[in-house]
Amino acid sequence: MLAFALNRDSQEPLYDQLKKHLVRQIENGILAPGDRLPATRELAGQLGVARISVVAAYEELKAEGYITSQVGRGTFVADRPPGDLAAAPLTGAMSPRNATLRELLTLAERPDVINFSHGIPADSFLSVSLIREALDAVLTRDGASAIAYEAPEGYLPLRELVARRMFELGIEVAAGEVLITGGCQQALDLAVQALLKPGDVLISSNPTYAGMLDIAQARGVTVIGIPVDPDGLQTEALEDRIVRHRPRLLYLAPTYHNPTGSVMPLHRRRYLLDLAGRYRLPVLEDGVYSEMSYIGTPPLPLKALDKEGLVLYASSFSKVLLPGMRIGYLLASGGLYQRLARVKRAADICTPALNQRAIHLVLESGQLDEHVAQVRIACLQRRKAMLDALKRHFPEAQWASPAGGMYLWLELPIDGPTATELYLHAVRSGVAFAMGPLFHTDNQGGYHLRLNMSAYPPDTIREGIRRLSSAWRELSAGHVSTNRASFAPFL
Ligand SMILES: Cc1ncc(COP(=O)(O)O)c(C=O)c1O
Repeated sequence: MLAFALNRDSQEPLYDQLKKHLVRQIENGILAPGDRLPATRELAGQLGVARISVVAAYEELKAEGYITSQVGRGTFVADRPPGDLAAAPLTGAMSPRNATLRELLTLAERPDVINFSHGIPADSFLSVSLIREALDAVLTRDGASAIAYEAPEGYLPLRELVARRMFELGIEVAAGEVLITGGCQQALDLAVQALLKPGDVLISSNPTYAGMLDIAQARGVTVIGIPVDPDGLQTEALEDRIVRHRPRLLYLAPTYHNPTGSVMPLHRRRYLLDLAGRYRLPVLEDGVYSEMSYIGTPPLPLKALDKEGLVLYASSFSKVLLPGMRIGYLLASGGLYQRLARVKRAADICTPALNQRAIHLVLESGQLDEHVAQVRIACLQRRKAMLDALKRHFPEAQWASPAGGMYLWLELPIDGPTATELYLHAVRSGVAFAMGPLFHTDNQGGYHLRLNMSAYPPDTIREGIRRLSSAWRELSAGHVSTNRASFAPFL
């Protein structure tokens, strides 16, 4: 049960206080889709307010799509509340739920906050001097052609090098199958644009990369989520969803998944490809963290195991080098490659020649591999610092130890505050993280949070985790537990 006291002295009308409280409950996932709300008379009695206040709150929530009522049955949390991307309008407007949570993230942009919420590599990993030298060398060597239009498919020597690099991951592609893109984000977006039209269904893990949810929303695509476990997307649930929803694309990051850090084992990869083959379902594999292995070697990418030509592979240099260079790539073949190149041309004509050529030089000289090796060592130390600090300071929480990538996915005890409640308190205590619902298709994740393990040196990580656990403890002390199954939040 969650304590909720109406403030009768406030200027804010009682119905408005009630409405805002319910919105928070829905956005935090405490009230789940389909949960029944009490009848207006009953709730008015419990709260000691006039029934009209409850009716007014319910009416506004209905108008905004948070709840629905069915004559004779009652009032329920909407199956697809306004924040649910599956119900998104075909325009690119940000959903209210995500907009609110993202606005909250900006509260952490203060120098005194240890901010684990970002999905970017630590500043100290960015090799500015490497890039400065490469940019200078390219301009000296190529002159004006380094700042002219490039082919939409990308700078050929870079495509050749990417193809060679892919070979090391077990993927055999020709340079003619490599499309250079504006980061991995654009690679994902081009694939969605080339393969889906508004109203089509995309299947994804749930939780998933929030940037893919943005793409789906902007392109008017419905996302159907498949739950994940420590072995990644639960492939047992896949066939049923394929049959029921007739998706046009399956998106997943099988290696060091964002946000959970999971790695899909080989048997699941094979089963997934087998299903994709049977249903002729294209698969979009996101490999953006694949090179960030700290412990062991992950199984082969889906693209390397694919015998039917159904897998598109998207990745970039953002996580291992410089995200702001915006150099990514998409691997595809045949007619689909041509279609993707046309969509790319329509999007932005080409990826900047100068950045492509500079990255090419860094790759060709072997400096990128040296840099990645150093980043890996630093990440391994930071990961250890975070795991040790969690064990020491936050034994109430649960987490898995990621073998690679950038994130640790933490689960809070469900009888304490939700991740969003904790966030507000934590920011005041000088630490921040990304809240679980940001990564979900269906308002779930209320008790999960994502921590970037690589963002700070070990001492700062330890201090951040100490602040996080004491913020949780302070908040839990005054917290009355919520029972999701029954609705008695106002008592
Ligand atoms: C899973 C995943 N895919 C794609 C991207 C986007 O990468 P880029 O910066 O190369 O566009 C990110 C960035 O956070 C990510 O986590």
